[in-house]
Amino acid sequence: MLELNEVSVRYPGSKLDALSDINLTFEQGEFVCILGKSGSGKSTMIRCINGLQTPTTGEVRWKGQALSNMKEEQLRKVRRQMGMIFQHFNLVPRLSVIQNVLTGTFGYRNSFKNLIGWFSDQEKQQAKQVIADVDLSSMADRRVEHLSGGQKQRVGIARALLQQPQIMLGDEPVSSLDPGTSNHIFSLLDQMHKQRNLLTIINVHDVNLAKRYATRLVALKNGQVIFDGKPEEFTNQEFLEIYESKDNYTDSNTR
Ligand SMILES: Nc1ncnc2c1ncn2[C@@H]1O[C@H](COP(=O)(O)OP(=O)(O)OP(=O)(O)O)[C@@H](O)[C@H]1O
Ligand SMILES: [Mg+2]
Repeated sequence: MLELNEVSVRYPGSKLDALSDINLTFEQGEFVCILGKSGSGKSTMIRCINGLQTPTTGEVRWKGQALSNMKEEQLRKVRRQMGMIFQHFNLVPRLSVIQNVLTGTFGYRNSFKNLIGWFSDQEKQQAKQVIADVDLSSMADRRVEHLSGGQKQRVGIARALLQQPQIMLGDEPVSSLDPGTSNHIFSLLDQMHKQRNLLTIINVHDVNLAKRYATRLVALKNGQVIFDGKPEEFTNQEFLEIYESKDNYTDSNTR
């Protein structure tokens, strides 16, 4: 359903490709973790998938159609099928949990309603539902600036869910969280992914977390795919090849 065909990206002024000839096909229901050292191209790949970055050559296809051939309105429609969560949450600190979550409807609304911040009762009801789904009902009216990092990321997930996405994308969504909270966020992503049959694609540095939750691992090195397989196929050897270091690796497949 989502294909990257010979995708390469070279940023202006650079002599090297940030992504080089990537060929990947992702199916609905997969939980994919993207691994790779800093600078390997993970964020660039996520930006190509959500249409924020146009490949220098090659194309990203969604349900058979190239994003680069889509008109503005069609691209907007595709984008709202892609929920996105971020390392630094990208929330508005002074607004409440529910106000932040409601901005997830913006892709569906006309810009005048967005401008005046008017939301229907139905939209508010849907927002309350996704807030309950991430177990934050008791905090719906609290300002986001008063929440912990893990709670903020749950707001980020609720906002993405309100878009009723088919794909959930994450660019290092747990990199600023402690290990226990990171596990909790991944477990929530896993739950949402199963309940809604989402295609989930998450960039992550923690290999153990990736192995625990992903159905498929893709590893990048210097902009190229050097591993694409099941978590149990990802061995110490692969780890060494990607990170060139034994640090932070313990082999665990237990949940
Ligand atoms: N906007 C940009 N302009 C120029 N070069 C860029 C830009 N964004 C990324 N790059 C370069 O492209 C390469 C891939 O970067 P990218 O951010 O995709 O890596 P990453 O795997 O996400 O790294 P990290 O783990 O640090 O987030 C790097 O060499 C980076 O310096
Ligand atoms: Mg990155």
